[in-house]
Amino acid sequence: MNKNSEKISGWKRFMKSMTKAHELGTEEDIMLDHDYDGIKELDNVLPPWWLYGFYITIAISAFYIFQVFYNSEAYNQDKEYEAAVAAGKAEIEAYKAANPQLFDDANIVALTSAEDLAKGKELFTSKTCFACHLADLGGSIGPNLTDNTWILGGDVKTIFNTISKGGRPGKGMIAWESSVTREERIQLASYIISMQGTLPANPKAAEGDVLFPVVVEAVEE
Ligand code: HEC
Repeated sequence: MNKNSEKISGWKRFMKSMTKAHELGTEEDIMLDHDYDGIKELDNVLPPWWLYGFYITIAISAFYIFQVFYNSEAYNQDKEYEAAVAAGKAEIEAYKAANPQLFDDANIVALTSAEDLAKGKELFTSKTCFACHLADLGGSIGPNLTDNTWILGGDVKTIFNTISKGGRPGKGMIAWESSVTREERIQLASYIISMQGTLPANPKAAEGDVLFPVVVEAVEE
């Protein structure tokens, strides 16, 4: 007998011990007496692999029964649930504390990552802002968004607010908060801030006041 056939026979033995399947051809031995219109029944034993699974669940239930009867002060379903909820809430609070600008309008800061600005630029097209402000933000129906004069205000919080709540009534700048998510509005506002001082092809004449002068920072070499 070579190694391979040993392995196969070992495997076969294992399978047999796990299934306790009755030898084919000898069904007569375990045939029951019933006969329903020619349909007969074999008295097969329950397969051990299945029984073991059943025993394992019984063993696990013993653990829970112990907890319920002897350890319910320290452990029960309600406590487990409460602990899970508390852990979830703590995670949310930690996330809020780490990202205040995402939750409180007073904490909004202009995003500067290339990814956020690219998303803002994309939204400026996909949310149709360009139709009134032009793709280079030079302005047509809506005002020029690259200069330092603003009708409503040019700091990131005010721009966010204008995008969210709209401009003055009847001017054409609607409130976008129902159709653009908060994060997207922050990305749009950040993109607009990042376009400050750029030179559009046909800039619309300045409107409003210098409400947020662009400070051109000296670039350190
Ligand atoms: C239908 C045309 C139209 C569309 C579309 C539009 N805007 Fe406006 N937008 C305007 C007008 C008009 C104003 C001036 C509002 C006013 O005078 O109160 C304005 C004002 C603004 C302002 C304030 C400018 C200032 O000087 O204070 C910002 C910022 C702005 N829009 C951003 C956006 C963004 C972002 C979008 C896309 C989500 C958008 N707009 C879509 C017409 C439009």
